[in-house]
Amino acid sequence: MALFGSAAAGAIGYIYWQTNVLLARQLEQTIEAETRGLAEQYRAGGISNLTKTVSNRSLTPGNSLYLVTDNEGRRITGNLTSVSKILWNSVGRVEFVYKRPSQNGPEDRLALASVFRLPGGFRLIVGRDIEDRRVFQRVVRSAFFIGLGFMALVGLGGGWLVSRGLLARIDAVTATGRTIMEGDLTGRVPVNGSGDELDRLSINLNAMLDRIEQLMAGMQEVSDNIAHDLKTPLNRLRNRAEAALHEHGDAKSYRDALERTIEEADGLIKTFNALLSIARLEAGTAGKAKNEIDAGALIQDFVELYEPTAEDKNMSLTAKVADDVHLKGDRQLIGQALANLIDNAIKYGGSKKGGKIEVTAGDTGQTVEFSVSDTGPGIPEKDRERVLKRFVRLEESRSRPGSGLGLSLVAAVARLYGGSVRVEDNKPGLRMVLSLPHKTNHNGVSRTQ
Ligand SMILES: Nc1ncnc2c1ncn2[C@@H]1O[C@H](COP(=O)(O)OP(=O)(O)OP(=O)(O)O)[C@@H](O)[C@H]1O
Ligand SMILES: [Mg+2]
Repeated sequence: MALFGSAAAGAIGYIYWQTNVLLARQLEQTIEAETRGLAEQYRAGGISNLTKTVSNRSLTPGNSLYLVTDNEGRRITGNLTSVSKILWNSVGRVEFVYKRPSQNGPEDRLALASVFRLPGGFRLIVGRDIEDRRVFQRVVRSAFFIGLGFMALVGLGGGWLVSRGLLARIDAVTATGRTIMEGDLTGRVPVNGSGDELDRLSINLNAMLDRIEQLMAGMQEVSDNIAHDLKTPLNRLRNRAEAALHEHGDAKSYRDALERTIEEADGLIKTFNALLSIARLEAGTAGKAKNEIDAGALIQDFVELYEPTAEDKNMSLTAKVADDVHLKGDRQLIGQALANLIDNAIKYGGSKKGGKIEVTAGDTGQTVEFSVSDTGPGIPEKDRERVLKRFVRLEESRSRPGSGLGLSLVAAVARLYGGSVRVEDNKPGLRMVLSLPHKTNHNGVSRTQ
Protein backbone atom coordinates (compact mmCIF):
# COMPACT_ATOMS: atom_id res chain seq x y z
CA MET A 1 0.00 0.00 0.00
CA ALA A 2 2.79 2.42 1.02
CA LEU A 3 4.81 1.53 -2.05
CA PHE A 4 1.88 1.94 -4.39
CA GLY A 5 0.87 5.18 -2.64
CA SER A 6 4.30 6.74 -3.02
CA ALA A 7 4.49 5.68 -6.66
CA ALA A 8 1.11 7.29 -7.39
CA ALA A 9 2.02 10.43 -5.41
CA GLY A 10 5.30 10.64 -7.33
CA ALA A 11 3.51 10.36 -10.66
CA ILE A 12 0.88 12.99 -9.83
CA GLY A 13 3.54 15.28 -8.32
CA TYR A 14 5.67 15.04 -11.43
CA ILE A 15 2.75 15.86 -13.75
CA TYR A 16 1.77 18.78 -11.51
CA TRP A 17 5.31 20.14 -11.45
CA GLN A 18 5.77 19.80 -15.21
CA THR A 19 2.42 21.50 -15.94
CA ASN A 20 3.37 24.35 -13.64
CA VAL A 21 6.73 24.81 -15.33
CA LEU A 22 5.02 24.85 -18.72
CA LEU A 23 2.37 27.38 -17.63
CA ALA A 24 5.00 29.60 -15.99
CA ARG A 25 7.09 29.57 -19.14
CA GLN A 26 4.10 30.48 -21.31
CA LEU A 27 3.21 33.33 -18.97
CA GLU A 28 6.77 34.57 -19.02
CA GLN A 29 6.82 34.53 -22.80
CA THR A 30 3.51 36.37 -23.10
CA ILE A 31 4.58 39.18 -20.75
CA GLU A 32 7.95 39.29 -22.49
CA ALA A 33 6.29 39.71 -25.91
CA GLU A 34 3.87 42.40 -24.68
CA THR A 35 6.72 44.32 -23.07
CA ARG A 36 8.83 44.09 -26.18
CA GLY A 37 5.99 45.50 -28.29
CA LEU A 38 5.32 48.39 -25.91
CA ALA A 39 9.06 49.18 -25.64
CA GLU A 40 9.16 49.56 -29.42
CA GLN A 41 6.18 51.94 -29.32
CA TYR A 42 7.88 53.97 -26.58
CA ARG A 43 11.13 54.16 -28.50
CA ALA A 44 9.30 55.21 -31.64
CA GLY A 45 6.99 57.89 -30.20
CA GLY A 46 7.68 58.50 -26.54
CA ILE A 47 5.12 58.47 -23.75
CA SER A 48 2.21 59.66 -25.83
CA ASN A 49 2.64 56.84 -28.32
CA LEU A 50 2.89 54.39 -25.44
CA THR A 51 -0.33 55.59 -23.77
CA LYS A 52 -2.14 55.37 -27.08
CA THR A 53 -1.07 51.78 -27.66
CA VAL A 54 -1.90 50.83 -24.08
CA SER A 55 -5.38 52.39 -24.40
CA ASN A 56 -5.93 50.42 -27.58
CA ARG A 57 -4.75 47.18 -26.15
CA SER A 58 -6.82 47.68 -22.98
CA LEU A 59 -9.97 47.64 -25.07
CA THR A 60 -9.55 44.02 -26.15
CA PRO A 61 -10.85 41.76 -23.43
CA GLY A 62 -8.54 39.07 -22.14
CA ASN A 63 -6.13 38.25 -19.41
CA SER A 64 -3.58 40.93 -20.26
CA LEU A 65 -3.28 43.78 -17.76
CA TYR A 66 -1.85 47.25 -18.46
CA LEU A 67 -1.40 50.46 -16.52
CA VAL A 68 0.44 53.66 -17.22
CA THR A 69 0.71 56.20 -14.34
CA ASP A 70 2.29 59.57 -13.92
CA ASN A 71 4.99 60.29 -11.41
CA GLU A 72 2.51 60.48 -8.54
CA GLY A 73 0.83 57.17 -9.26
CA ARG A 74 -2.24 58.57 -10.95
CA ARG A 75 -3.67 56.36 -13.65
CA ILE A 76 -3.23 57.73 -17.14
CA THR A 77 -4.56 54.75 -19.06
CA GLY A 78 -4.85 50.96 -18.89
CA ASN A 79 -7.36 48.36 -17.75
CA LEU A 80 -6.02 48.21 -14.17
CA THR A 81 -7.96 50.73 -12.12
CA SER A 82 -5.55 51.50 -9.36
CA VAL A 83 -2.02 50.86 -8.36
CA SER A 84 -1.23 49.47 -4.92
CA LYS A 85 1.67 50.60 -2.76
CA ILE A 86 3.67 47.46 -3.27
CA LEU A 87 3.24 47.72 -6.99
CA TRP A 88 4.20 51.34 -6.98
CA ASN A 89 7.38 50.75 -4.98
CA SER A 90 8.62 47.69 -6.78
CA VAL A 91 10.60 47.17 -9.92
CA GLY A 92 10.60 44.01 -12.05
CA ARG A 93 8.34 40.98 -11.46
CA VAL A 94 5.59 41.32 -8.84
CA GLU A 95 2.72 39.07 -7.89
CA PHE A 96 -0.28 41.01 -6.61
CA VAL A 97 -4.01 40.88 -6.05
CA TYR A 98 -6.28 43.21 -7.99
CA LYS A 99 -10.00 43.78 -8.20
CA ARG A 100 -11.90 42.91 -11.34
CA PRO A 101 -15.57 43.59 -11.88
CA SER A 102 -17.74 40.51 -12.35
CA GLN A 103 -21.44 39.60 -12.20
CA ASN A 104 -21.33 39.39 -8.37
CA GLY A 105 -19.45 42.66 -7.89
CA PRO A 106 -15.71 43.14 -7.90
CA GLU A 107 -13.66 40.02 -7.14
CA ASP A 108 -10.10 39.58 -5.98
CA ARG A 109 -7.86 37.99 -8.58
CA LEU A 110 -4.19 37.11 -8.63
CA ALA A 111 -1.92 38.67 -11.23
CA LEU A 112 1.72 38.74 -12.19
CA ALA A 113 3.23 41.89 -13.66
CA SER A 114 6.45 43.64 -14.64
CA VAL A 115 6.85 47.19 -13.38
CA PHE A 116 8.99 49.62 -15.40
CA ARG A 117 10.04 53.14 -14.38
CA LEU A 118 10.15 55.46 -17.35
CA PRO A 119 11.96 58.77 -17.57
CA GLY A 120 9.90 61.60 -15.98
CA GLY A 121 8.59 59.39 -13.17
CA PHE A 122 6.11 57.50 -15.34
CA ARG A 123 5.36 53.91 -14.53
CA LEU A 124 4.44 51.18 -16.99
CA ILE A 125 2.89 48.00 -15.61
CA VAL A 126 2.43 45.05 -17.96
CA GLY A 127 0.91 41.92 -16.49
CA ARG A 128 -1.30 38.89 -16.77
CA ASP A 129 -4.18 37.57 -14.77
CA ILE A 130 -3.07 34.26 -13.21
CA GLU A 131 -6.18 33.51 -11.14
CA ASP A 132 -6.96 30.57 -13.47
CA ARG A 133 -3.57 29.13 -12.75
CA ARG A 134 -4.20 29.41 -9.04
CA VAL A 135 -7.55 27.65 -9.45
CA PHE A 136 -5.87 24.93 -11.48
CA GLN A 137 -3.29 24.44 -8.73
CA ARG A 138 -6.01 24.24 -6.12
CA VAL A 139 -7.97 21.67 -8.14
CA VAL A 140 -4.91 19.51 -8.72
CA ARG A 141 -3.94 19.73 -5.07
CA SER A 142 -7.36 18.68 -3.83
CA ALA A 143 -7.59 15.94 -6.49
CA PHE A 144 -4.22 14.75 -5.26
CA PHE A 145 -5.27 14.49 -1.62
CA ILE A 146 -8.76 13.13 -2.29
CA GLY A 147 -7.34 10.58 -4.73
CA LEU A 148 -4.63 9.52 -2.33
CA GLY A 149 -7.07 9.25 0.54
CA PHE A 150 -9.51 7.21 -1.55
CA MET A 151 -6.72 4.96 -2.72
CA ALA A 152 -5.48 4.45 0.82
CA LEU A 153 -8.99 3.59 1.96
CA VAL A 154 -9.68 1.13 -0.85
CA GLY A 155 -6.15 -0.29 -0.64
CA LEU A 156 -6.25 -0.85 3.09
CA GLY A 157 -9.78 -2.25 2.99
CA GLY A 158 -9.00 -4.52 0.05
CA GLY A 159 -5.73 -5.64 1.56
CA TRP A 160 -7.44 -6.41 4.82
CA LEU A 161 -10.19 -8.42 3.11
CA VAL A 162 -7.80 -10.39 0.88
CA SER A 163 -5.31 -11.15 3.62
CA ARG A 164 -8.05 -12.06 6.05
CA GLY A 165 -9.46 -14.66 3.60
CA LEU A 166 -6.00 -15.94 2.72
CA LEU A 167 -4.73 -16.07 6.26
CA ALA A 168 -7.88 -17.82 7.45
CA ARG A 169 -7.29 -20.52 4.85
CA ILE A 170 -3.64 -20.89 5.82
CA ASP A 171 -4.79 -21.14 9.42
CA ALA A 172 -7.07 -24.00 8.39
CA VAL A 173 -4.06 -25.82 6.92
CA THR A 174 -2.14 -25.24 10.15
CA ALA A 175 -5.08 -26.53 12.20
CA THR A 176 -5.22 -29.69 10.07
CA GLY A 177 -1.48 -30.14 10.55
CA ARG A 178 -1.96 -29.90 14.29
CA THR A 179 -4.81 -32.47 14.30
CA ILE A 180 -2.61 -34.89 12.43
CA MET A 181 0.35 -34.27 14.72
CA GLU A 182 -1.91 -35.13 17.61
CA GLY A 183 -2.39 -38.55 16.05
CA ASP A 184 -5.67 -38.20 14.17
CA LEU A 185 -4.75 -39.16 10.62
CA THR A 186 -8.28 -38.55 9.32
CA GLY A 187 -7.91 -34.74 9.41
CA ARG A 188 -8.12 -33.06 5.98
CA VAL A 189 -7.55 -29.53 4.72
CA PRO A 190 -10.82 -27.83 3.68
CA VAL A 191 -11.18 -27.30 -0.09
CA ASN A 192 -13.51 -24.50 -1.23
CA GLY A 193 -13.70 -25.58 -4.88
CA SER A 194 -12.45 -22.30 -6.34
CA GLY A 195 -9.52 -24.08 -8.00
CA ASP A 196 -7.06 -21.34 -7.05
CA GLU A 197 -3.47 -21.95 -5.94
CA LEU A 198 -4.41 -22.54 -2.31
CA ASP A 199 -7.18 -24.90 -3.34
CA ARG A 200 -4.83 -26.88 -5.50
CA LEU A 201 -2.34 -27.00 -2.66
CA SER A 202 -5.08 -28.25 -0.32
CA ILE A 203 -6.16 -30.93 -2.80
CA ASN A 204 -2.59 -32.14 -3.13
CA LEU A 205 -2.03 -32.06 0.61
CA ASN A 206 -5.21 -34.11 1.06
CA ALA A 207 -4.10 -36.61 -1.57
CA MET A 208 -0.79 -36.88 0.26
CA LEU A 209 -2.58 -37.40 3.57
CA ASP A 210 -4.82 -40.06 2.00
CA ARG A 211 -1.74 -41.86 0.81
CA ILE A 212 -0.02 -41.59 4.18
CA GLU A 213 -3.13 -42.82 5.94
CA GLN A 214 -3.38 -45.73 3.53
CA LEU A 215 0.29 -46.62 4.05
CA MET A 216 -0.08 -46.38 7.82
CA ALA A 217 -3.17 -48.61 7.71
CA GLY A 218 -1.20 -51.05 5.54
CA MET A 219 1.65 -51.09 8.03
CA GLN A 220 -0.76 -51.63 10.87
CA GLU A 221 -2.41 -54.48 9.01
CA VAL A 222 0.93 -56.10 8.19
CA SER A 223 2.09 -55.98 11.77
CA ASP A 224 -1.25 -57.33 12.99
CA ASN A 225 -1.08 -60.11 10.41
CA ILE A 226 2.44 -61.00 11.36
CA ALA A 227 1.55 -61.11 15.02
CA HIS A 228 -1.48 -63.36 14.45
CA ASP A 229 -0.59 -65.53 11.50
CA LEU A 230 3.08 -66.16 12.07
CA LYS A 231 2.68 -66.99 15.72
CA THR A 232 0.91 -70.25 14.94
CA PRO A 233 3.63 -71.79 12.71
CA LEU A 234 6.33 -70.56 15.08
CA ASN A 235 4.55 -72.22 18.01
CA ARG A 236 4.13 -75.38 15.98
CA LEU A 237 7.84 -75.37 15.20
CA ARG A 238 8.73 -74.90 18.83
CA ASN A 239 6.34 -77.63 20.03
CA ARG A 240 7.67 -80.12 17.49
CA ALA A 241 11.23 -79.51 18.64
CA GLU A 242 10.18 -79.82 22.27
CA ALA A 243 8.26 -83.06 21.64
CA ALA A 244 11.27 -84.56 19.84
CA LEU A 245 13.45 -83.72 22.84
CA HIS A 246 11.04 -85.39 25.24
CA GLU A 247 10.63 -88.53 23.15
CA HIS A 248 14.02 -90.04 23.95
CA GLY A 249 13.98 -91.62 20.52
CA ASP A 250 16.83 -92.94 18.43
CA ALA A 251 19.02 -91.01 16.01
CA LYS A 252 16.56 -91.53 13.12
CA SER A 253 13.59 -90.02 14.95
CA TYR A 254 15.71 -87.02 15.93
CA ARG A 255 16.74 -86.67 12.34
CA ASP A 256 13.14 -86.82 11.17
CA ALA A 257 12.17 -84.20 13.73
CA LEU A 258 15.00 -81.94 12.59
CA GLU A 259 13.99 -82.34 8.95
CA ARG A 260 10.40 -81.41 9.76
CA THR A 261 11.67 -78.44 11.71
CA ILE A 262 13.69 -77.27 8.72
CA GLU A 263 10.67 -77.73 6.46
CA GLU A 264 8.56 -75.67 8.78
CA ALA A 265 11.28 -73.00 8.95
CA ASP A 266 11.48 -72.95 5.15
CA GLY A 267 7.75 -72.36 5.00
CA LEU A 268 8.11 -69.47 7.41
CA ILE A 269 10.94 -67.97 5.35
CA LYS A 270 8.77 -68.24 2.25
CA THR A 271 5.95 -66.46 4.00
CA PHE A 272 8.28 -63.72 5.18
CA ASN A 273 9.64 -63.27 1.67
CA ALA A 274 6.14 -63.02 0.24
CA LEU A 275 5.21 -60.44 2.89
CA LEU A 276 8.33 -58.46 2.14
CA SER A 277 7.64 -58.48 -1.60
CA ILE A 278 4.11 -57.20 -1.04
CA ALA A 279 5.36 -54.51 1.35
CA ARG A 280 7.97 -53.38 -1.19
CA LEU A 281 5.37 -53.26 -3.93
CA GLU A 282 3.03 -51.22 -1.78
CA ALA A 283 5.79 -48.80 -0.83
CA GLY A 284 6.63 -48.49 -4.53
CA THR A 285 10.27 -49.48 -4.07
CA ALA A 286 9.95 -52.56 -6.31
CA GLY A 287 8.75 -53.12 -9.85
CA LYS A 288 10.36 -50.13 -11.47
CA ALA A 289 11.91 -52.13 -14.31
CA LYS A 290 10.26 -51.48 -17.66
CA ASN A 291 10.67 -54.41 -20.01
CA GLU A 292 8.77 -54.74 -23.25
CA ILE A 293 6.77 -57.89 -22.51
CA ASP A 294 5.33 -60.22 -25.13
CA ALA A 295 2.29 -61.52 -23.24
CA GLY A 296 1.97 -64.61 -25.46
CA ALA A 297 5.54 -65.72 -24.92
CA LEU A 298 5.23 -65.05 -21.20
CA ILE A 299 2.20 -67.26 -20.60
CA GLN A 300 3.57 -69.94 -22.95
CA ASP A 301 6.66 -70.15 -20.71
CA PHE A 302 4.56 -70.53 -17.57
CA VAL A 303 2.26 -73.09 -19.11
CA GLU A 304 5.27 -75.22 -20.04
CA LEU A 305 6.74 -74.77 -16.57
CA TYR A 306 3.55 -75.86 -14.77
CA GLU A 307 2.41 -78.55 -17.18
CA PRO A 308 4.09 -81.46 -15.34
CA THR A 309 2.54 -80.43 -12.00
CA ALA A 310 -0.88 -80.14 -13.64
CA GLU A 311 -0.49 -83.52 -15.27
CA ASP A 312 0.34 -85.09 -11.91
CA LYS A 313 -3.10 -83.97 -10.78
CA ASN A 314 -4.68 -85.20 -13.97
CA MET A 315 -5.39 -81.65 -15.17
CA SER A 316 -4.90 -80.11 -18.59
CA LEU A 317 -3.17 -76.76 -18.87
CA THR A 318 -3.51 -74.75 -22.08
CA ALA A 319 -2.60 -71.28 -23.25
CA LYS A 320 -4.67 -69.13 -25.59
CA VAL A 321 -3.26 -65.83 -26.83
CA ALA A 322 -4.44 -63.30 -29.36
CA ASP A 323 -1.69 -62.20 -31.75
CA ASP A 324 0.68 -59.46 -30.78
CA VAL A 325 -0.26 -58.61 -27.20
CA HIS A 326 2.43 -56.42 -25.72
CA LEU A 327 2.84 -54.31 -22.61
CA LYS A 328 5.56 -52.57 -20.65
CA GLY A 329 6.45 -53.47 -17.09
CA ASP A 330 8.58 -55.57 -14.80
CA ARG A 331 8.61 -59.04 -16.40
CA GLN A 332 9.56 -60.80 -13.21
CA LEU A 333 6.78 -59.24 -11.17
CA ILE A 334 4.05 -59.84 -13.71
CA GLY A 335 5.41 -63.37 -14.14
CA GLN A 336 5.23 -63.93 -10.38
CA ALA A 337 1.60 -62.78 -10.34
CA LEU A 338 0.73 -65.17 -13.19
CA ALA A 339 2.57 -68.02 -11.47
CA ASN A 340 0.56 -67.42 -8.29
CA LEU A 341 -2.69 -67.60 -10.27
CA ILE A 342 -1.70 -70.80 -12.11
CA ASP A 343 -0.44 -72.31 -8.85
CA ASN A 344 -3.83 -71.63 -7.24
CA ALA A 345 -5.70 -73.09 -10.21
CA ILE A 346 -3.69 -76.29 -9.94
CA LYS A 347 -3.99 -76.37 -6.14
CA TYR A 348 -7.69 -75.59 -5.76
CA GLY A 349 -9.16 -75.73 -9.26
CA GLY A 350 -9.32 -79.47 -9.75
CA SER A 351 -11.76 -82.19 -8.81
CA LYS A 352 -11.25 -85.92 -8.33
CA LYS A 353 -11.61 -86.48 -12.05
CA GLY A 354 -9.06 -83.79 -12.86
CA GLY A 355 -9.83 -80.49 -14.50
CA LYS A 356 -9.14 -78.00 -17.20
CA ILE A 357 -7.08 -74.88 -16.79
CA GLU A 358 -6.93 -72.22 -19.46
CA VAL A 359 -4.54 -69.28 -19.43
CA THR A 360 -5.25 -66.40 -21.81
CA ALA A 361 -3.89 -62.97 -22.68
CA GLY A 362 -5.82 -60.38 -24.67
CA ASP A 363 -5.81 -56.71 -25.53
CA THR A 364 -8.92 -54.63 -24.72
CA GLY A 365 -7.58 -51.44 -26.24
CA GLN A 366 -6.69 -49.68 -23.03
CA THR A 367 -5.45 -52.66 -21.08
CA VAL A 368 -3.88 -56.06 -21.43
CA GLU A 369 -5.89 -58.75 -19.63
CA PHE A 370 -4.43 -61.99 -18.36
CA SER A 371 -6.88 -64.62 -17.22
CA VAL A 372 -6.54 -67.99 -15.54
CA SER A 373 -9.69 -70.12 -15.46
CA ASP A 374 -10.29 -73.50 -13.94
CA THR A 375 -13.21 -75.87 -13.59
CA GLY A 376 -12.98 -76.46 -9.85
CA PRO A 377 -15.26 -75.40 -6.99
CA GLY A 378 -14.65 -71.67 -7.47
CA ILE A 379 -15.01 -69.04 -4.77
CA PRO A 380 -18.43 -68.07 -3.38
CA GLU A 381 -19.55 -64.53 -4.22
CA LYS A 382 -19.24 -63.30 -0.63
CA ASP A 383 -15.56 -64.29 -0.37
CA ARG A 384 -14.38 -62.88 -3.69
CA GLU A 385 -13.19 -59.57 -2.30
CA ARG A 386 -11.79 -61.04 0.87
CA VAL A 387 -9.45 -63.58 -0.74
CA LEU A 388 -7.31 -60.75 -2.11
CA LYS A 389 -6.38 -59.70 1.43
CA ARG A 390 -3.28 -60.92 3.24
CA PHE A 391 -3.41 -64.31 4.98
CA VAL A 392 -6.97 -65.00 3.90
CA ARG A 393 -7.49 -68.70 3.12
CA LEU A 394 -10.90 -70.23 2.71
CA GLU A 395 -11.95 -72.94 5.12
CA GLU A 396 -11.84 -75.78 2.56
CA SER A 397 -8.23 -74.91 1.58
CA ARG A 398 -6.76 -75.18 5.05
CA SER A 399 -5.56 -78.74 4.47
CA ARG A 400 -3.32 -77.64 1.60
CA PRO A 401 0.01 -75.91 2.09
CA GLY A 402 0.05 -72.13 1.65
CA SER A 403 0.00 -68.96 3.60
CA GLY A 404 -2.76 -66.94 1.91
CA LEU A 405 -0.39 -64.39 0.41
CA GLY A 406 -0.47 -65.46 -3.25
CA LEU A 407 -3.48 -63.38 -4.30
CA SER A 408 -2.36 -60.43 -2.12
CA LEU A 409 0.78 -60.22 -4.24
CA VAL A 410 -1.28 -60.32 -7.44
CA ALA A 411 -3.44 -57.48 -6.10
CA ALA A 412 -0.35 -55.50 -5.08
CA VAL A 413 1.11 -55.83 -8.59
CA ALA A 414 -2.16 -54.63 -10.11
CA ARG A 415 -2.30 -51.66 -7.74
CA LEU A 416 1.32 -50.76 -8.42
CA TYR A 417 0.65 -50.46 -12.13
CA GLY A 418 -2.76 -48.84 -11.82
CA GLY A 419 -4.55 -52.00 -12.98
CA SER A 420 -7.05 -54.31 -11.28
CA VAL A 421 -7.78 -57.90 -10.31
CA ARG A 422 -11.21 -59.44 -10.88
CA VAL A 423 -12.46 -62.64 -9.26
CA GLU A 424 -15.13 -64.09 -11.55
CA ASP A 425 -17.32 -67.13 -11.90
CA ASN A 426 -16.14 -69.46 -14.70
CA LYS A 427 -19.36 -71.55 -14.46
CA PRO A 428 -18.15 -73.91 -13.23
CA GLY A 429 -14.92 -72.94 -11.56
CA LEU A 430 -13.00 -69.77 -11.00
CA ARG A 431 -11.75 -67.18 -13.43
CA MET A 432 -9.10 -64.78 -12.20
CA VAL A 433 -8.44 -61.74 -14.39
CA LEU A 434 -5.40 -59.50 -14.02
CA SER A 435 -5.90 -56.33 -16.04
CA LEU A 436 -2.89 -54.04 -16.59
CA PRO A 437 -2.61 -50.82 -18.58
CA HIS A 438 -0.42 -50.94 -21.70
CA LYS A 439 2.09 -48.61 -20.23
CA THR A 440 2.48 -49.66 -16.65
CA ASN A 441 3.59 -46.27 -15.44
CA HIS A 442 3.36 -46.59 -11.69
CA ASN A 443 -0.05 -44.93 -11.77
CA GLY A 444 -1.03 -46.46 -8.58
CA VAL A 445 1.08 -46.85 -5.54
CA SER A 446 4.38 -45.30 -6.44
CA ARG A 447 3.13 -42.11 -8.12
CA THR A 448 4.45 -40.10 -5.21
CA GLN A 449 8.00 -41.29 -5.78
N1 LIG B 1 -8.62 -71.32 -8.26
C1 LIG B 1 -9.17 -71.30 -7.05
N2 LIG B 1 -10.26 -72.04 -6.79
C2 LIG B 1 -10.82 -72.01 -5.57
N3 LIG B 1 -10.36 -71.30 -4.53
C3 LIG B 1 -9.27 -70.55 -4.73
C4 LIG B 1 -8.63 -70.50 -6.00
N4 LIG B 1 -7.60 -69.67 -5.89
C5 LIG B 1 -7.58 -69.22 -4.62
N5 LIG B 1 -8.58 -69.75 -3.91
C6 LIG B 1 -8.88 -69.47 -2.49
O1 LIG B 1 -8.32 -68.22 -2.15
C7 LIG B 1 -7.44 -68.36 -1.04
C8 LIG B 1 -6.33 -67.38 -1.16
O2 LIG B 1 -5.42 -67.70 -2.20
P1 LIG B 1 -3.93 -67.30 -2.09
O3 LIG B 1 -3.26 -67.64 -3.35
O4 LIG B 1 -3.93 -65.85 -1.67
O5 LIG B 1 -3.39 -68.12 -0.89
P2 LIG B 1 -2.92 -69.64 -0.84
O6 LIG B 1 -2.93 -70.21 -2.21
O7 LIG B 1 -3.81 -70.28 0.17
O8 LIG B 1 -1.48 -69.54 -0.27
P3 LIG B 1 -0.14 -69.11 -1.07
O9 LIG B 1 -0.58 -68.70 -2.44
O10 LIG B 1 0.40 -68.04 -0.27
O11 LIG B 1 0.69 -70.33 -1.09
C9 LIG B 1 -7.00 -69.79 -1.11
O12 LIG B 1 -6.61 -70.23 0.16
C10 LIG B 1 -8.25 -70.49 -1.61
O13 LIG B 1 -9.10 -70.73 -0.52
MG1 LIG C 1 -1.91 -69.29 -3.80
